[in-house]
Amino acid sequence: MAGDAVLSIESISKSFGGLRAVSEVSFDVRPGAIKAVIGPNGAGKSTLFNLITGLESPLSGRIVMDGCILNGLKPNRRAALGMGRTFQTPQVFEGMSVLDNVLVGRHLHATSGWLDALAYTGRSRREEAAMREHCLEVLEKVGLADRAHEDAADLACGQLKLLEMARALALDPKVVLLDEFTAGLTHQETGHMMDIVRGVRDEGVTVLLVEHDMHLVMNLSDEIVVMNFGQKIAEGPPEEIQRDERVIEVYLGTEI
Ligand SMILES: Nc1ncnc2c1ncn2[C@@H]1O[C@H](COP(=O)(O)OP(=O)(O)OP(=O)(O)O)[C@@H](O)[C@H]1O
Ligand SMILES: [Mg+2]
Repeated sequence: MAGDAVLSIESISKSFGGLRAVSEVSFDVRPGAIKAVIGPNGAGKSTLFNLITGLESPLSGRIVMDGCILNGLKPNRRAALGMGRTFQTPQVFEGMSVLDNVLVGRHLHATSGWLDALAYTGRSRREEAAMREHCLEVLEKVGLADRAHEDAADLACGQLKLLEMARALALDPKVVLLDEFTAGLTHQETGHMMDIVRGVRDEGVTVLLVEHDMHLVMNLSDEIVVMNFGQKIAEGPPEEIQRDERVIEVYLGTEI
């Protein structure tokens, strides 16, 4: 692991039956960087994210965040240590306000289970009020504050993605993992989301993202990891990746 990495993926592998979905993938993420993982369908990107966030267990290899080995820790423990994530398909509690959805997200990650989260157990009112205030600030940051008290079920697709983002940021993460965070968004919404990600990065949060939109990846990322058939085939800044012959071969016929 490089001394200055906030997140290190060390020779991580995962198989499904006979299929090696992720094969000895290693890379570091520097603090304050925006790093993208790209690759064709089935390359292993989502599996890699699931390994990093703890939804899947690796066959071998290590994941280290800020000097702490994450292997074996459940997703909520990783979240409590500073790993936020968004899901490709936004997860909302319908019948609850946008603000409560962000609050429950925070409780869900900070506590051991759904019941605790829903009951808001063991918290003083003052703590609760401070948490609400914090979540409102996060909603302000993503541009959803004016919808805070509306039912989350009434949000449109783009706003649901913003809610996902708010939920990840409410945890005050060191590192945030974004899974296809602009899929289904309009051009304008995508631009807004990119601004949010840059703002988050400027506040010192490290960003790791999986994204299919090459224009976005090339514009937003400081560094890119390219995967194909479970393996890392290239890594570097956007200018280098665009010229890399192995990458061009994989994306032959597609503009990168
Ligand atoms: N739970 C699973 N069980 C069996 N095979 C799986 C499972 N999850 C993923 N795979 C397989 O592992 C490989 C990698 O899949 P993965 O979803 O990680 O790719 P991806 O890069 O995210 O693709 P996409 O761009 O289409 O989302 C694929 O061949 C996929 O079919
Ligand atoms: Mg995927």
